[in-house]
Amino acid sequence: MSQPHIHPSILSADFANLAGELERIHTADAVHVDVMDNHFVPNLTLGLPVVQALAERSELPLDVHLMIEDPDRWAPAYAQAGVQSVTFHAEAAAAPVRLARELRAAGTRSAMALRPATALEPYLDMLGELDMLLLMTVEPGFGGQAFLDLVLPKIRRARAAIDGSGKPIALQVDGGISRDTILRAAEAGADVFVAGSAVYGAPEPSVEIDALRNLVLAGHQNVQQ
Ligand code: DX5
Ligand code: ZN
Repeated sequence: MSQPHIHPSILSADFANLAGELERIHTADAVHVDVMDNHFVPNLTLGLPVVQALAERSELPLDVHLMIEDPDRWAPAYAQAGVQSVTFHAEAAAAPVRLARELRAAGTRSAMALRPATALEPYLDMLGELDMLLLMTVEPGFGGQAFLDLVLPKIRRARAAIDGSGKPIALQVDGGISRDTILRAAEAGADVFVAGSAVYGAPEPSVEIDALRNLVLAGHQNVQQ
């Protein structure tokens, strides 16, 4: 498994001061940007102009999580904004294989997300089209929800499938990740961890990011001993 990566979600940041909020997470591996359209999820956040502005300003790479309907139509424009990865939801995509290829062709990493109750198995044959698989550990839409342990078996199955594929596909978890839950997700096989309220709710977000990463690293050492 690769090094643990911590991606703070700016959903829990001060939207009136996004540039300042980026500086508070300078120890992160990338910035997770939640795009919600009020249709795929019952919440509305930000869209392409804000992602473009963040991409220009941020020294960290952007990890864009699209919780939108019709990603086949909208996702490629995000890929062209110069971001590290674009994640679309399997439940919303009409042609996920074609879309994953379009994202890569546009110069970004392709990623696909599954809601907690969406089965992994129908998508196993297309894993090779993805650079990252996101398994939601809450129902998407809002920060601050409780981690759903019922997703852990799916994380384990995804880890086994990724290892079996021999491809360097990242396995991301998003929702309810904190000092209390990150080890459970890591032990199940996740290696990229999104954390919103746990990071921005901490007194020093940059310190909290290091603490989360160190918990996973220490957990790996315990397993090896
Ligand atoms: C939820 C979003 C998450 C959210 C996570 O729909 O996709 O990225 O910001 O927030 P926490 O870490 O508070 O669960
Ligand atoms: Zn997210």
